Amino acid sequence: MRIFSGIQPTGRKHLGNYIGAIRQYVEGQDRGEAVYCIVDLHATCVAYEPAELPGYVLDTTAMLMAAGLDPEKCILFRQSDVREHTELCWSLCSVTPYGDLTRMHQFKDKGEGQALVRTSLFLYPVLQAADILLYDTDEVPVGDDQRQHLELARDIAERFNATYGDTLVVPRHRFPEAGGRIMDLQEPSRKMSTTAPGEEGTLLMLDEPKALEKKVKRAVTDSGSEVQRGREKPGVTNLIEILAVIRGVSPEDVESEFEGRQYGAFKGAVAEAVVDYLTPVRERYEEIRADPAGIETVLAGGAERARAIAAPTMARVRERMGIGPV
Ligand code: TRP
Repeated sequence: MRIFSGIQPTGRKHLGNYIGAIRQYVEGQDRGEAVYCIVDLHATCVAYEPAELPGYVLDTTAMLMAAGLDPEKCILFRQSDVREHTELCWSLCSVTPYGDLTRMHQFKDKGEGQALVRTSLFLYPVLQAADILLYDTDEVPVGDDQRQHLELARDIAERFNATYGDTLVVPRHRFPEAGGRIMDLQEPSRKMSTTAPGEEGTLLMLDEPKALEKKVKRAVTDSGSEVQRGREKPGVTNLIEILAVIRGVSPEDVESEFEGRQYGAFKGAVAEAVVDYLTPVRERYEEIRADPAGIETVLAGGAERARAIAAPTMARVRERMGIGPV
């Protein structure tokens, strides 16, 4: 059973990333052969700062290790170190309908407002499919914003197999059961993200305890005073779900615990839980990130093991497509 996922290189991961995706990666290490890729090539699909990118890769690697990824138990590598990713992307273009790519939500969202809409942004989902399909992946843990990309990867694999003969494994996706949608604390109708206009609504994994506390205490709550979920109470609902996921209990348990208590007491409990949850990760992160050479060694080892899986897949694809000598 092989698990694969990719993660964007940024040092600014937030609680939603942690609960929605990173936690699943950690758990995947014990369920199967887990392969995790820092997708620096995907980072070049929108405007970015070349001088910063290598450092972001190290930030993200350190963050994943701090969250519990163990390079002895999984393969952790940088996408650009394994050249097969770009080569397979091109091969998969031959079975990817242009029309399908024009319908990708992320292409529309991320392309909007860019002075230059890069062709690489258009091809982003094909590169993502290549990431997954190179490793004969059975399962892909991702946040639910990746649903459309995952469906496309499955379609591409199926169309490749239908066109060139059975070659690629068609992956399943795996979405988090709980806590898949952690919302912004200030604007609970939108997902928590690092691209929100302000930062008060986003709990960053590297925020100091004081900052976390302040953000939770200032979170918008709704009218009424009951700690209860509801359609008209998106702010409180979000906080209840955050606390439930962190404690590993159900939202109903949280509601009954806080029955008859005020928002203030409830927010205090949420703040404390968030701080206790993220502080050890931040401390481990600082330690790991202080040794960039050590991180590079981990990535180099990961790339070697990744290549050992990717190269035979690519050879199979080339042969099926009639690319290269007889
Ligand atoms: N697009 C994914 C995201 O933004 C990152 C990603 C790239 C990915 N390649 C992948 C996720 C392969 C899963 C599998 O989160």
